[in-house]
Amino acid sequence: MSDQTHFSAEEFQNFRDFLQEAAGIDLGLNKQYLVATRVRRILIDYKIETLADLTRVISSGSEQNLRQKVIDAMTTNETFWFRDIYPYEYLSNHFLAELRQRGVKRPRIWSAACSYGQEPYSISMIIEEYIQRSRGLSAFPCDILATDLSSTVLDAAAKGCYDRLSVARGLEGDRLKAFFHQSSPDTWCVNKTIRDRISFRAQNLLESYLLLGKFDAIFCRNVLIYFSSEHKLNILQRLHRSLNKDGILVLGSSESLGEANDLFATEHVRPGVIYRAR
Ligand SMILES: C[S@@+](CC[C@H](N)C(=O)[O-])C[C@H]1O[C@@H](n2cnc3c(N)ncnc32)[C@H](O)[C@@H]1O
Repeated sequence: MSDQTHFSAEEFQNFRDFLQEAAGIDLGLNKQYLVATRVRRILIDYKIETLADLTRVISSGSEQNLRQKVIDAMTTNETFWFRDIYPYEYLSNHFLAELRQRGVKRPRIWSAACSYGQEPYSISMIIEEYIQRSRGLSAFPCDILATDLSSTVLDAAAKGCYDRLSVARGLEGDRLKAFFHQSSPDTWCVNKTIRDRISFRAQNLLESYLLLGKFDAIFCRNVLIYFSSEHKLNILQRLHRSLNKDGILVLGSSESLGEANDLFATEHVRPGVIYRAR
């Protein structure tokens, strides 16, 4: 049984190269321990002796499931409901009304690294609340596209069912009551009205978005931090091209535009910022 905790410089570098190529993840040079702990279970399950052997198999393209498992193990899927709250308040208090005033008939919002789905479902709840409080509002259909690199998290997101611990993170009791139903003593599932606005599909941010069409808002939060500055700039340039005129980009609260600064105007929305396509 494999219990590899030390890697040669070459095998570690080859693994880093694989991850950079497959997912854009820029793994630090001092991350041997992280790799050892995260791939340990996979090495044991697949009876693979060394990291070098694993890298060889997943780079050959013959073991797509194993390749996905390794990427999943190395990405961080941390997420929760209404994360940082200010982007959702901005949608609720300003942006949805602005879209209506501008006469946008069917707004499109993209959650570009949606993880287990808390982000697109939070957006959909905000839209639902907006529709409910704007009585007399004629139809205001909105489409949300939720994408992620990992098919494992996407499958879970599409189910829309969460355990007690997950629903406790950022979801107010009133929203839990209004927008979920309990399917077992420890499971809450998102109601159909909230679910129906969202379509889920796999999308690697390093690959073309042309087929996805254009959006009025893009949430690309807490994922750019994993990319090299070259990949980050390239992704931000292509996200910019995926926005409609006056469309907005929302990044994670610790992320910034860096070299793509001139493509967007910054709107201060305390305690954070929203970027508007120039
Ligand atoms: C930390 S989660 C962020 C979830 C959510 N956006 C939030 O802010 O709460 C990062 C997500 O990015 C996804 N990811 C990592 N690399 C990616 C890539 N190259 N393309 C698309 N998604 C990627 C991971 O699978 C993970 O679900």
